[in-house]
Amino acid sequence: MSFNTFGHLFRVTTFGESHGVAVGCVVDGCPPRIPLDRNDIQPYLDKRRPGQSRFTTQRREPDEVRILSGVLEDDSTGAQVTTGTPITLVIDNVDQRSKDYSDIKNLYRPGHADFTYDVKYGLRDYRGGGRASARETAARVAAGAIARKVLPGMTVRGALVQMGPHKIDRAQWDWDEVERNAFFAPDAQAAGFFADYLDGVRKAGSSIGAVIEVVAEGVPAGLGAPVYGKLDADLAAGLMGINAVKGVEIGDGFAVAALSGEENGDEIRMGNDGRPRFLSNHAGGILGGISTGQPIVARFVVKPTSSILTPRRTVDRYGRDSEIVTKGRHDPCVGIRAVPIGEAMVACVLADHYLRQRGQIGDAPAWPFAPPAG
Ligand SMILES: Cc1cc2nc3c(=O)[nH]c(=O)nc-3n(C[C@H](O)[C@H](O)[C@H](O)COP(=O)(O)O)c2cc1C
Repeated sequence: MSFNTFGHLFRVTTFGESHGVAVGCVVDGCPPRIPLDRNDIQPYLDKRRPGQSRFTTQRREPDEVRILSGVLEDDSTGAQVTTGTPITLVIDNVDQRSKDYSDIKNLYRPGHADFTYDVKYGLRDYRGGGRASARETAARVAAGAIARKVLPGMTVRGALVQMGPHKIDRAQWDWDEVERNAFFAPDAQAAGFFADYLDGVRKAGSSIGAVIEVVAEGVPAGLGAPVYGKLDADLAAGLMGINAVKGVEIGDGFAVAALSGEENGDEIRMGNDGRPRFLSNHAGGILGGISTGQPIVARFVVKPTSSILTPRRTVDRYGRDSEIVTKGRHDPCVGIRAVPIGEAMVACVLADHYLRQRGQIGDAPAWPFAPPAG
């Protein structure tokens, strides 16, 4: 009844609070003999790390990962590899400032998890939000780095495609640009605009929402299962499980409501490589809950940060009307740092389904099938 675990065969359990000693995860089910050392994980944590620009929280966390278990030096290669036993990753919290939260100890921030935690558990870790803090997501990002190594040839990339009402120009999409700006935006011009826009939001003591798109390439056809194990359902659950995420779309998502059957169904021809070639990808790479072999495309929307400087009406835990202003260090647009987190969740779900496919089906007969004789 504790719900800190997700995945079936690639199984991730995260632990830790924002202002505790550390956060981390146990990854169980990772196959043995996969090369893995902390350098495979650290770059992804560095991408999520706070305090890298004026557009994210100024909490200073080095987010250095330690691997406590599940790896061994391989005699033949000298490389560190997974053993098949649980891999435990730990990331110390070093820059907690619990006193920043003393003013809101007994008050509920509108939009945050303060009220619901209190009403459910009868107490809450007010220091930084406890498990409701984005610190927990560092552990998912670390697990995602391992997941990427489980599915050979898979690439998972994410980008911020909308901030507030402002969308990027998709014609300008450049994946290299994502690494060059503070917003993980794939459109250089939009990134320049976002800088001025978010400066205004930040200086006003406010916050704003965003949309993130994650694309997974190199995912084989056949992952996922009908009905209760649909790949799209598991991706949606994984992405919705990220703090502050309020909606998920696969492929064209909600926009399919305005499409006709002709516009929506992705037509198929045979490619020169003997594999099917879809002429479009409205489905986002998933049909019937099963991957088509096309890129998997998921989008998720992240709400504006609840901790803002604007005075807000609320109540305290003793049932008295009150007002709250949240000071301290907060992200003005949570969506920015959600990009590597979304990538990690997609990678974990796909690694899990890859292992499930191997477990149930193994090697399916090669497609296209031989036509019946005669
Ligand atoms: C990367 C990231 C950073 C976040 N930073 C903050 C923050 O600085 N201040 C805040 O109030 N909420 C922040 N949040 C959002 C809260 O964690 C989240 O709103 C809270 O857990 C309530 O859950 P819900 O939004 O899913 O309802 C952040 C979330 C993410 C994913």
